[in-house]
Amino acid sequence: MMDTATATRIIQSMDYERGRKGAPEGFPALPDIPGARYVDPAFLKLERDRMWDRAWLYAGHADQLPEPGSWFLATNPGAPILVVRDLKGEIRAFYNTCQHRGAPLVAEESGQSRGFVCAYHGWSYTLEGKLTAVRDKRDFVDLDFSCRSLVSVRCERIGNLIFVNQDPEAEPLLDHIGPMAAEFAQYDFDKLRLVDSRSYDVDCNVKVLLDAFLEVYHIKSIHQKTVDRFLDHRGMVITLWPKGHSRMITPNSRPDWKDPGTIGMPRIASVTEVPANNNVSYMIYPNFVMPPSDSGVPLLQFWPLGDTRCRVVSTWIGPDHDAENPHPLWEQRIKNWERILYEDLQFAPQIQASLQSKGFRGMPLNYQERRIYHWHEELDRRIGLNQVPPEARVDQVLDGTQWIES
Ligand code: FES
Ligand SMILES: [Fe+2]
Repeated sequence: MMDTATATRIIQSMDYERGRKGAPEGFPALPDIPGARYVDPAFLKLERDRMWDRAWLYAGHADQLPEPGSWFLATNPGAPILVVRDLKGEIRAFYNTCQHRGAPLVAEESGQSRGFVCAYHGWSYTLEGKLTAVRDKRDFVDLDFSCRSLVSVRCERIGNLIFVNQDPEAEPLLDHIGPMAAEFAQYDFDKLRLVDSRSYDVDCNVKVLLDAFLEVYHIKSIHQKTVDRFLDHRGMVITLWPKGHSRMITPNSRPDWKDPGTIGMPRIASVTEVPANNNVSYMIYPNFVMPPSDSGVPLLQFWPLGDTRCRVVSTWIGPDHDAENPHPLWEQRIKNWERILYEDLQFAPQIQASLQSKGFRGMPLNYQERRIYHWHEELDRRIGLNQVPPEARVDQVLDGTQWIES
């Protein structure tokens, strides 16, 4: 839930933000973000190994696993991960990696089966990942089946949203997201159904696009004909949480505004007033961006495909959705959303080219853009402060200060 005290505080903060004449008293000048963080292969390798490969990452929706034995393959996290509903209905994840010589267990994107038989030499595994049969077992000396189970990957959920983490020591997901977990209760994530999912590949470092979804400073320019018509970016309120997570709440320009494209769609009755009547956007570090409304929730993930290529996955989930007979407004709603996404993606390859050129000297961020700085500070903490090459480092300016809410 969002409790009344929090809601009142947010409304007051909107008034404060609208009325202020400068950055708040004591807010620090943020040091420039070095361009090396977007282009330097050594830095990006550290980022991959120490951050992405140890982070909680959204893998998919429980509707993708309708029956016992249903599975899908998640390739965006960097390693191929098989997400499975076992016979008891539990959702599990394994590397899609046969323990004989590494062939994939499945080759398609999704399917249903009673177990997995490797297509290379026929080793067989249960849905729980146990090795049960090996062809010509007599030829292996001392093969211990119990040591040859599929390698599991941590897999936890926020309602129907399935997350994976390749770090076996990772903190449990709900502990990790801290105060967001309680706020998320109002969205009924265990009931929202999968409506649509599509992806866009873009030629830029993943952070070029991630940065764009952490601020609304750009809406007066690139979203002039869309988002800017109904949002008041000057009243925007940010909450920075520990571990890189954050929330941004941008008020509607008119308090009574309702998106005309959703009128008549089913509502999530438990959504409280602030999220129902303003644009709330959550960031689960590092790559999950979610601006929920009471009539549907878009989920965005940003994935590095290489140093200068990335993928944006855009998914919609909604209340009382019937895949066979979707509400007629979904089609136009998703089209409108896609138009906004294209506005955000349009400059990304050129920004990447700029960051690689001698014309780029670093990014000065303002108070409104502080979520970006917060994101980058967390990246350095996850890499290890003394591991980051000095020319790529950002100073820890916000960490441990009053600007972070715990
Ligand atoms: S690699 Fe799977 S059975 Fe040989
Ligand atoms: Fe945008």
